[in-house]
Amino acid sequence: MPLSILFNVMKILGIETSCDETAAAIVEDGFKLISNVVATSMDEHAKYGGIVPEIAARSHIESIIPVIDQCMHESQLDWADLDGIAVTYGAGLGGSLLVGVETAKALAISKNLPLYGINHVEGHVYANFITESLVGNITPSDEQPKFPMLALIVSGGHSQIVIFKNHFDYILLGQTGDDAVGEAFDKVAKLLGLPYPGGPNIEIAAKDGDTEKYKLPKARLEGKYDFSFSGLKTAVLRLAQSEVGKSFDFPSFELSALLNDSQKTDIAASFLKTSIETLVDKMEVAEKEFSPKTIVIAGGVAANQELRKQLKNRLHAKLQYPDIKLCTDNGAMIATLGCFKAMLNSTPVDPYKLQIDPNLSM
Ligand code: KG4
Ligand code: ZN
Repeated sequence: MPLSILFNVMKILGIETSCDETAAAIVEDGFKLISNVVATSMDEHAKYGGIVPEIAARSHIESIIPVIDQCMHESQLDWADLDGIAVTYGAGLGGSLLVGVETAKALAISKNLPLYGINHVEGHVYANFITESLVGNITPSDEQPKFPMLALIVSGGHSQIVIFKNHFDYILLGQTGDDAVGEAFDKVAKLLGLPYPGGPNIEIAAKDGDTEKYKLPKARLEGKYDFSFSGLKTAVLRLAQSEVGKSFDFPSFELSALLNDSQKTDIAASFLKTSIETLVDKMEVAEKEFSPKTIVIAGGVAANQELRKQLKNRLHAKLQYPDIKLCTDNGAMIATLGCFKAMLNSTPVDPYKLQIDPNLSM
């Protein structure tokens, strides 16, 4: 039974600007997506092979009001119909977060609405709670996850395994000590001359490659749920250098011109296999230890088909992941978590005091 049946109807506007997406959405009662608008500055970053924080911040400034306006317009709601505003205040890029947080503060004050500060990484998980969508081309989950819920949060900034006993009651089991898995995808893609963002492009290139051609290492770490992807990334660099007969001081940005297509696709396939296996190995251990009712994946890398396939094959609990459009950054996940905060009576933040926290952890 959705929590909302026990509470008054809650409609929350979610605002997300932690990286390169300027996004706003309205969610009702933590399950019904009413409107969802995402503008991205991805094309402007693509030519630099990664996110340029100054470009992202400037683009948020230009887009935030039109995005919120369009979100309100598509919802056919008035400000008076809303019950609160939820905004990502961390983790993320400082300049980007500031635009969303300051806009949300101004709106909360001027429209007299409660304001909820949202942890971006926790927000990603809540995309899985959307079970109804009035927005075309988004397929919602068939049911809400059940607790205990084991979550794998994998994005350009995060690689975390978290066990949720209930809403807001969770333990961070492990995380990356260096690169996030999405970051490793982006860097390996750059080395292979594939466009940004790397994840989807590695996935496409890997389809034509041989996963067994090269053996790449999996990091062994003390914390059984911790990750490290910088060693794997360096192993790919060394492999590429030796494949083209160059020494280890040969610059990475010159490699893609020397690698042939089959070397590129084989490296992409081997990297994809090793990185995804690393994630699934740890999830298998966590499932045995915590016996979750539902396993969810969240974050941009949750769009990866190989990850979904391996998790399905090797784990036993019900596996859920959001529609691809809700895997990457969006306002819907922030609004959904905001709904649960409102429905479960979390104290709103003081809109005069909310500060960004770029290094916020779970
Ligand atoms: O969640 P997200 O949109 O932004 C962050 O919070 O980081 O995730 C973006 C990351 C990028 O690193 C991108 O390469 C990765 O998600 N990604 C993928 C795929 N689609 C996006 N990684 C692997 N496979 C994909 N299909
Ligand atoms: Zn994200």
